[in-house]
Amino acid sequence: MSRNLSALSFRKGLDENVFSRMVEMGDQLGTAEVGDKVHKMGEESLFGDALTLGAVSFYDLLKKQHADKKVLLCNGSACLCAGTQGKLREDVAGHFAEKEIGHICCLGRCHEGGAFQYKGKNYSGQTAAQLETLFKTGEGDSTDRYAVVSDLATPILTAPFSGIAEYYAPLKEWLARSRDDLQAELRDSKLRGRGGAGFPMHLKWQSCREATGPVKYIVCNADEGDPGAYIDKYLMEEQPHSVLLGMMAAGWFCGAQVGVLYIRAEYPDSVSRMNAAVQELRDAGWLGKNIQGSGFDFDFKTIKGAGAYICGEETALLASIEGQRPEVRVRPPFPTVEGLYRKPTVVNNVETFANLLAILTMGGKAYAAIGTDASTGPKLLSLDSHFRKPGLYEVAMGTPLSKILYDLAGGFKNPVKAIQVGGPLGGLVPLDKIDSLTVDFESFKNAGFLLGHAGVVSIPESLPMIEYIEHLFQFTADESCGKCFPCRLGSTRGQELVAKARNGKGAIDPELMTDLLDTMEQASLCALGGGVPLPIKNAIRYFAAELKPYFAAPA
Ligand SMILES: Cc1cc2nc3c(=O)[nH]c(=O)nc-3n(C[C@H](O)[C@H](O)[C@H](O)COP(=O)(O)O)c2cc1C
Ligand code: SF4
Repeated sequence: MSRNLSALSFRKGLDENVFSRMVEMGDQLGTAEVGDKVHKMGEESLFGDALTLGAVSFYDLLKKQHADKKVLLCNGSACLCAGTQGKLREDVAGHFAEKEIGHICCLGRCHEGGAFQYKGKNYSGQTAAQLETLFKTGEGDSTDRYAVVSDLATPILTAPFSGIAEYYAPLKEWLARSRDDLQAELRDSKLRGRGGAGFPMHLKWQSCREATGPVKYIVCNADEGDPGAYIDKYLMEEQPHSVLLGMMAAGWFCGAQVGVLYIRAEYPDSVSRMNAAVQELRDAGWLGKNIQGSGFDFDFKTIKGAGAYICGEETALLASIEGQRPEVRVRPPFPTVEGLYRKPTVVNNVETFANLLAILTMGGKAYAAIGTDASTGPKLLSLDSHFRKPGLYEVAMGTPLSKILYDLAGGFKNPVKAIQVGGPLGGLVPLDKIDSLTVDFESFKNAGFLLGHAGVVSIPESLPMIEYIEHLFQFTADESCGKCFPCRLGSTRGQELVAKARNGKGAIDPELMTDLLDTMEQASLCALGGGVPLPIKNAIRYFAAELKPYFAAPA
């Protein structure tokens, strides 16, 4: 059935994209769940009412309940750990009725805390007086301020932009060379995807290149939903051409003519900056047919998300673009064979694409000399508001984690007991393990953690670990796509078990909790349900003494 829907959606194409129309309606009305409008969309797309309603009602920002919301407070892990949201809610409640205050997660203002969205703009770290002015006049300072530090002798991902002609010159040279040569460079670079799984980039591109068919797509996964991560946000807002160049290189290599940027709605500045960069490229004669006389045709389409963490999972993301309910699809077939509209598609993370210029310029072997043997190249990390110098850090893979956290970022300004690296599905690292870790996939994996996308959230001493565990279960329950039982039911049952123990209504049966976590880990279809047991198991292991009062004694 969903194959037929993909084919129907393909008929509308990206220009009349069904999902974008839903989002536009949400922007105008606060919801896309309006009976007659849903009916009309369903008729035009031939999806019908039920499927169209099933899709729009999935997204936080398109649901009926969203229509009344005027201010959206961030409820992500970094803002929770910053401890700012209670006071923010009180202050905001002085200006708006309870039903006008909603939630959103996460705005990428993790370096400051106190994040919220108002009239489509993001704010953080505001005082009560600033809020007063903002809500009365609509005028406020939404500037995003954080440190950007490169530990590399020659910065790569944070290097200043040199202007379109100079910046795109290496790509122009490559457009006249052989794709087999590029394949060799990509393989030698050993670049692994930065979206979390660390999959070798050259294998993915080669698979799409070899797939047959006249229509192929390059999709940039800019749905960076991990609380604590604002790496892709930085790249899109401060280094947009690094992303566009990487996507164009992928298009030329694989034989695709369209690049789709799927950017989360929580990052309005990223959407506008990427659109502006695409326009700059167009104005410079770098888009359209026969680019720079090379015979290569390419163009971009930007799609704004609508508030669903699971749309970061690549198959859910593709279903979302097609206007279908964004449920995870079973793989194989992989997107490189059956991706967007069931056509061969490369899906890569923003940061992965941003590495391309370095490979095109210095060559694969020189690129691979940065970092470790198995984890090559530079890596960005984003640090939250508990650090003395919160911000974005560029290091070579293999750099000691302690160097970044303590030497470059100045350590913690508040007492902290653990950090969570790699988002809500990443490991929970107690402070005494930091010294043993280096920033690469293997070091984290071997120690029982996960590098993931490398956003860092600090868990303060003052935040009970049991509360953090409940937050993780709740996050998973809220964001589950519902396709498989272990995640859909397991996350809610886990949250209930923890809530009961926190409220003194019954200690957690350790065997039951172990069963639940093992089932989620082993039987979930994707890494949302399958991944959240990792930090919870880490917490149970490393914070056993603190958590003891909440668990029943083993039978
Ligand atoms: C629940 C879930 C959320 C994800 N969120 C993101 C995301 O926000 N950004 C991203 O690039 N990859 C995300 N991924 C990974 C993607 O599915 C996919 O592996 C990635 O986009 C591939 O790009 P890469 O090879 O460049 O890493 C997520 C995966 C899961 C299971
Ligand atoms: S693990 Fe959760 S998010 Fe992933 S497919 Fe299953 S229900 Fe959906």
